[in-house]
Amino acid sequence: MVLRVDSFLMRAVRFHEHGGPDVLQVDDVERPEATGHSVVIEVAGAGVNPVDTYFREGSYEPFTLPMIPGVDVAGTVAETSEYVDSVEVGDPVVATGLGNDRYGGYAEYVAVPESRLAVLPESADLVAAGGMGVAGVTAWRALIDHAGLEPGESCLIHGGSGGVGHAAVQIAAAAGAHVVATAASEYHDRVAALGADVVLDYDRDDLADAVVGAAVGDGVDVILDHRLDDYLQFDAEVAATGARLVGIGENDPSVGFSQSSAARGKDLQATFMSMFNTPRLADPLSRLTTLVGAGDLETSVARTYDLEDAAEAQRAVMEDSFLGKIVLIP
Ligand SMILES: NC(=O)c1ccc[n+]([C@@H]2O[C@H](COP(=O)([O-])OP(=O)(O)OC[C@H]3O[C@@H](n4cnc5c(N)ncnc54)[C@H](OP(=O)(O)O)[C@@H]3O)[C@@H](O)[C@H]2O)c1
Repeated sequence: MVLRVDSFLMRAVRFHEHGGPDVLQVDDVERPEATGHSVVIEVAGAGVNPVDTYFREGSYEPFTLPMIPGVDVAGTVAETSEYVDSVEVGDPVVATGLGNDRYGGYAEYVAVPESRLAVLPESADLVAAGGMGVAGVTAWRALIDHAGLEPGESCLIHGGSGGVGHAAVQIAAAAGAHVVATAASEYHDRVAALGADVVLDYDRDDLADAVVGAAVGDGVDVILDHRLDDYLQFDAEVAATGARLVGIGENDPSVGFSQSSAARGKDLQATFMSMFNTPRLADPLSRLTTLVGAGDLETSVARTYDLEDAAEAQRAVMEDSFLGKIVLIP
């Protein structure tokens, strides 16, 4: 069934210029329409990600100003076009890859190409699913597509309480890996409950020995690193021979080995990735929704905010400590 949403206004967060969180404001704007291979989603939850702040600041250039930020959403299909055959009005869906080359999800409605969404199980929590896209797809692409993680391999997840980290722990556990995660001590029990076999404090002085000791073999086979400036050399030291490292982020972009022989001596394979390069986001998203349906993947919502509090949500995602995701509820 194709249902047209009448053209009225909706509330959306926008930034009209680059700057700090205070450039975010709520505006009344035209609701989007479903054209081509796109659908319109009534947003139940819009995940807040570090990358949203990079677009706002201008270190990543959005396609236009004023811009509606937000890479992730989940909600209900409100309108489809005649060219769309993968979803119907009323379907619960999750989408990602927005807020970059098109308007994002910090809004009551958002238009999404069907190549960037997947249908959720009816039982899914739509607010939580709003925080799943970037975290889940990044973790899936890193561990499964790039590293080729196999059952029984030892997998190190740095920052297992983070947005990406807590999804990665669950995906690695679902893949049958032996999961070693780091986290602040207050989160150890919850990261273990997500599926980590061993959780280690990232601040401990003997972390490298502890990681190697926790691995099944003589080091870890797969490493997911979101702080390459802190851990690239460390990764080479705790890696097993033939290990695969996937780097997704850093605080300081001048990343390098202090000495490269450990990496060379172990044939360490390194991949540095961006989720935005995913050929078809619907593919990993549909794998993630299968895990959601099987009870193997749950996005943990640390906090929710109203659209009016988007600035506070973006400040919190960069500065505060929390387990899981921050989600805006329009
Ligand atoms: N390349 C890509 O496609 C891609 C995709 C998604 C994200 N990223 C990047 O990946 C990074 C993480 O994203 P996110 O959304 O997961 O952020 P997040 O939710 O803020 O998580 C960051 C995690 O890092 C932990 N952490 C802090 N200090 C640490 C340390 N010294 N060692 C290990 N972990 C530490 C934090 O724990 P505490 O709470 O204890 O501080 C927190 O759990 C960001 O830089 C982001 O831009 C890249």
